[in-house]
Parts: sequence; structure tokens; C-alpha cells
Amino acid sequence: MSIQTFGSPDGLAVVDLPVPAPAAGQVLVTTEAVGVGGVDTLIRSGALAAYGFKEGHIPGGEVAGTVTAVGDGVDPSWLGRRVWAFTGTGGGYAEQAVVPVEQVLLLPDGLSSAAAVTLGSAGAVAHFGLRHARFAPGETVLVRGAAGGIGIMAVQLAARGGAAAVAVTTSSPERGERLRRLGATHVLNRSGGRGDGASGRDGAHERGRAPESGGAPERDGTPAGYDVIIDVVAGADMPSFFDRLNPNGRMVAVGAVAGQPPADFGTRIMTEFRKSLSFAAFSAATVAPAALRAVRAEQFAAAARGEIAAVVHELLPLDHAVLAHRKMDAGEVFGRIVLAPRGAGAASAERRKAS
Ligand SMILES: NC(=O)c1ccc[n+]([C@@H]2O[C@H](COP(=O)([O-])OP(=O)(O)OC[C@H]3O[C@@H](n4cnc5c(N)ncnc54)[C@H](OP(=O)(O)O)[C@@H]3O)[C@@H](O)[C@H]2O)c1
Repeated sequence: MSIQTFGSPDGLAVVDLPVPAPAAGQVLVTTEAVGVGGVDTLIRSGALAAYGFKEGHIPGGEVAGTVTAVGDGVDPSWLGRRVWAFTGTGGGYAEQAVVPVEQVLLLPDGLSSAAAVTLGSAGAVAHFGLRHARFAPGETVLVRGAAGGIGIMAVQLAARGGAAAVAVTTSSPERGERLRRLGATHVLNRSGGRGDGASGRDGAHERGRAPESGGAPERDGTPAGYDVIIDVVAGADMPSFFDRLNPNGRMVAVGAVAGQPPADFGTRIMTEFRKSLSFAAFSAATVAPAALRAVRAEQFAAAARGEIAAVVHELLPLDHAVLAHRKMDAGEVFGRIVLAPRGAGAASAERRKAS
């Protein structure tokens, strides 16, 4: 699938290209699952044209499948292995993709291709985003924009990491309930008010209590402030969330699905000088490849053991990428849409076998 024309999802079209040959140091992956990322829709819209993206671009940053050819210098034992592969800023929406071998990771038995492309990129961003925020057990965490791949993983990792509370923003009580099942303890709406339909005061109040171990998540006591905010959203409302940091609190922006914050955001940070607050952007591009591999391997293994959930919103055939992008643009997606080059039926059977 290639972006023939920037703009609406209708600009995506099937193109027939020769099977690529892996160059030295590369492998050819015959794909079973392709992750549809938020950045794909941005590239398709043309919003990132200034960064060098051109019409004709094949989107797709991560795939999973089987290694079917190797280039010079690559260990031939990769042939036939089931792998996840990072294709970077493009090349994933394809039946076959060439990838540098250092961007390829073996899939453990029991992990489906669909689960792998749901976790591979997002899980690492969530993990290292929390680390960038110096998250520690016992702290209160807010995940802003929790319903996407990164947010869902940040919620699970913060909960598993011993957070005293994991608040989330999302757009509906139903999504809030799903996030609670993944580890969220408090649900806020996109503006930060109570978002789960529960009675009680609106917005930010008394300090949260630690959720009872193994018990039902509490519904009252929404934290008045947060030690860590993982922000996938940015945009105009970012300063009002920054204001909710506790003294010594840290906000880390890992995405910007609502665009840039206001130009005077820096002034807001300095206004709160006496609270010693921190703001940072975080990109996984700054993490050493070996560290990324190690964390992804750990997360894949944890998912194969059933300790981490990979939330696949829907499996669609590869040539339904237009529909996938329409759903993304409409905000209908909870988790990840996965494209299945061999057909959604084949990928779904594989997913059932693996689960
Ligand atoms: N840091 C990195 O290394 C890295 C790597 C890859 C991607 N990214 C970035 O991460 C972002 C995509 O992450 P993702 O796939 O997890 O997110 P996503 O699914 O695109 O969005 C996350 C959630 O944010 C909420 N949301 C959307 N628009 C909003 C708005 N205008 N205001 C408030 N909430 C809104 C939606 O949930 P509700 O409707 O439930 O509110 C949505 O499900 C992109 O900005 C991408 O560039 C960063």
C-alpha cells in the first residue's frame, strides 16, 4: 500500500512492486501482521512533508512474519524464523519487507504476529518513557491519551511497577472500564474531569490511596496531583495537565496527537519554579538499540506468558488500509489496528492458536 496522494485515507492505494532483494546485512520478512501507527496517518495526511516524506511513500513502522531470504553477511539460521521487525518510518504496509538484521527480533512461541506488532514499538516507548520520568514504585501516575498503543502499555507497566495510582484520560466511560481492567485506578475525561460516570466531585481532589492489592480498584480519592505524567497528547491543554504535577513531579511527552502545546508553555514551567517541576520530550530514537532489543524481548516474553495484554482493536486485510486509516482518523481505535497481508482470517486463526 502506498500513499499516492497526501490528504485523506483515499490517497492510499495498492501498488504492485517486485519482491525486494535483501542487501548485505538485511533480511526479507514475509509479513503476517503490520501495525497501523498514529504516525502513519500523520505521514499520509501530508503533515510531515517538511520532514522529507513524499507521495509514493509506503507507510508502516513495524511488521511480524517469517524470514524468507537473507542478504550477504547475515547468519542463514534466520531463514524460516518467526520475527518482529522495525521498518522505521516506512515500508511496512507490504507483503514483503526488507529490514536490517539488527532491527529484527525473534518471536517467542505463544506470541502471535498481531500481538507482536501491537507491543513492539509502543511497549518500548512506554517503558523508556516511564524510565525517562524516573518513575518509582509508590508514585502517582497519570497517562494522558491512554487508549492508544503507547498509553495502554504505560498503564500496564505503571500498575505492574507498583504505582500508588494510575489515572488515565480517555473519551468514554466504556474505554475507562477497559483501562481499569488493564490497571488504571482512576478515569478522567480528556479535560481532566471525572470521566467514568461515577458520582463524586469533578476533577482533581485529595491524594490517591494505593489500590488494594488484588482488590477492586477504588473509585474515589482521585489524586490531587501526580508525580509522573506520561503525555501522548500534548496540544492546547498540555499546560493545564502540567499544573497537576506534585512538587518534584515530572511530565514526559511521548507523543503529540493533538499537536504542539501553546507557545508560552515554557513560561508556565518557570511560573511554577518553586515546585521544581520537570518537563521532557522523549523519543525511543535516543535509546541504544541493544537496550530496545532487551526490553522488547522481555515484553514479548511477558505477553506470551499472559502477563501483559496486547490490545488488538481489529484485524483487517492489508488492502483495507484505507478503512484502517478512516477508523484511526475517526478516533474509533482502542489499542492497535493490525493489517494482515495473508488475510485477516489467516492472522486471526494464528492469533487464536497463540492465545
Ligand atoms: N516517543 C516515541 O518514541 C514515539 C514512537 C512512536 C510514536 N510516537 C508518537 O505517539 C503518538 C501516537 O501514540 P498512540 O498510537 O499510542 O496514540 P493514538 O492511538 O494515536 O492516541 C492515543 C489516544 O489519545 C486520545 N486522543 C486523540 N486525540 C486527542 C485529543 N485531541 N485530545 C485528547 N486526547 C486525544 C485518544 O483516546 P480517547 O479518544 O479515548 O481520548 C487516542 O486513543 C504520535 O504522536 C506518535 O508520533 C512517539
